[in-house]
Amino acid sequence: MCGRWPALSEANLEFCRPAADNPRMKKLFIKTYGCQMNAYDSARMADLLAPLGYAPVEKQEGADMVILNTCHIREKAAEKVYSELGRLAVLKREKPGMLVAVAGCVAQAEGEEMVRRQGAVDMVVGPQSYHRLPEMIARHARDAGHVLETDFPALEKFDALPQASSESGVSAFLTVQEGCDKFCTFCVVPYTRGPEHSRSPESILAEARNLVSRGAREIVLLGQNVNAYRGVDSHGKDWNLARLIDALAQIHDVYRIRYTTSHPRDMDDDLIAAHGNIEKLMPFLHLPVQSGSDSVLAAMNRQHTADDYLRLIGRLRAARPDIAFSSDFIAGFPGESDADFEATMALVRSVKFSQCFSFKYSPRPGTPAAGAKKLVAESVKTSRLLALQALLLEQQDEANKASIGQTMDVLFEKAGRENGQLVGRSPWLQPVHVQAGTSRIGTIGAVKIAALTANSLHGALAQTASA
Ligand code: 5AD
Ligand code: SF4
Repeated sequence: MCGRWPALSEANLEFCRPAADNPRMKKLFIKTYGCQMNAYDSARMADLLAPLGYAPVEKQEGADMVILNTCHIREKAAEKVYSELGRLAVLKREKPGMLVAVAGCVAQAEGEEMVRRQGAVDMVVGPQSYHRLPEMIARHARDAGHVLETDFPALEKFDALPQASSESGVSAFLTVQEGCDKFCTFCVVPYTRGPEHSRSPESILAEARNLVSRGAREIVLLGQNVNAYRGVDSHGKDWNLARLIDALAQIHDVYRIRYTTSHPRDMDDDLIAAHGNIEKLMPFLHLPVQSGSDSVLAAMNRQHTADDYLRLIGRLRAARPDIAFSSDFIAGFPGESDADFEATMALVRSVKFSQCFSFKYSPRPGTPAAGAKKLVAESVKTSRLLALQALLLEQQDEANKASIGQTMDVLFEKAGRENGQLVGRSPWLQPVHVQAGTSRIGTIGAVKIAALTANSLHGALAQTASA
């Protein structure tokens, strides 16, 4: 599952760290599309290429290597990549040595077709094979031909990736699980990311310790189906996500833990209990439901009913009464009637989400639903989406307004746009702006919330910050 993680500022999808001043450094530009798993992968690609002399830059003009780390989840993904490649082909004519690589899910889905359609492409690398980039660059230099890697050697990827060697953000992504075996009928992920695979707990804990030593204080565990995590340790023992979270919570300088994205079917008893027992596990859960209609849920192959979902929400609230939820919804799935859509609205009214993502259904090539005959008219999809979004926005506003006057712990992440301002997150993932010095970045402070603008809260430090 690829639910998005709201960015602290407007989506900054271009991955960049300060470029090295050293003129011998090769300039690497990575453009990241889509979900937080891609953001994680982009960072790892930069780490992987650093020993080859590549340093990230902010502009593609003049770059020695450009990587488009693509997303295939929604409509026209491939077309957008091809038009970006058209622009890169022009730049490449000015700088013929420039390497152009396409990574991510569109690369996986398109494979050879990419190099056939756009001669400027030097490398095509799927999400499970990008650890082979250094070798691909060497092969390309040797043969000057196109290089393609789109296997699923998931077991080897994480072992082959180097540990991050640069400073980490206060909140750091850590991929623990990849792939999906659920096969929702609308979704390309099982085909582009491959089968479910979990990393060993030892390698995850080592990566978390490394991130913390580089400044991370919040760890966001990532996986397409993160709560399906089943890692095997070096003694052959199985770990579920709850056990992994518990072990991460023992790392002293990890202040906060989150995980995303989850499937309702995989919320096991241990994980629900963890929300009540592990203080460092934040009271916020992104739990996509997609629809509130049982017949649509069945047609989507979600493997649960609306009532199952509502009962799950109830159990999580019993374990952690202040937990907030977000979700993903699809409006206008084939066969969705007015009554089905009403059932979705009823589910939303009953849960009260604090934020949400909603999309019009778009057929994805190769997925079972793409062949469906009973399509919903575009105008109906649009009006349903608008109605759904209006309701979701109302609920988000309500949740944010309820924060005014409250004092909450904020983990400060970075300087804000205004002078002397810091921006951080509440336990419920709301961005919070405060006037405070940069020395507080990476610490938790109690903030009294005074106002709300757009989607962010504004407040003042209530007491001395504590970690
Ligand atoms: N059409 C519309 N939305 C989709 N999503 C995934 N596939 C499709 C599709 N074919 C949405 C789902 C998923 C989110 C990441 O993207 O809501 O949870
Ligand atoms: Fe999520 Fe279903 Fe797609 Fe798997 S198939 S990634 S569970 S939406």
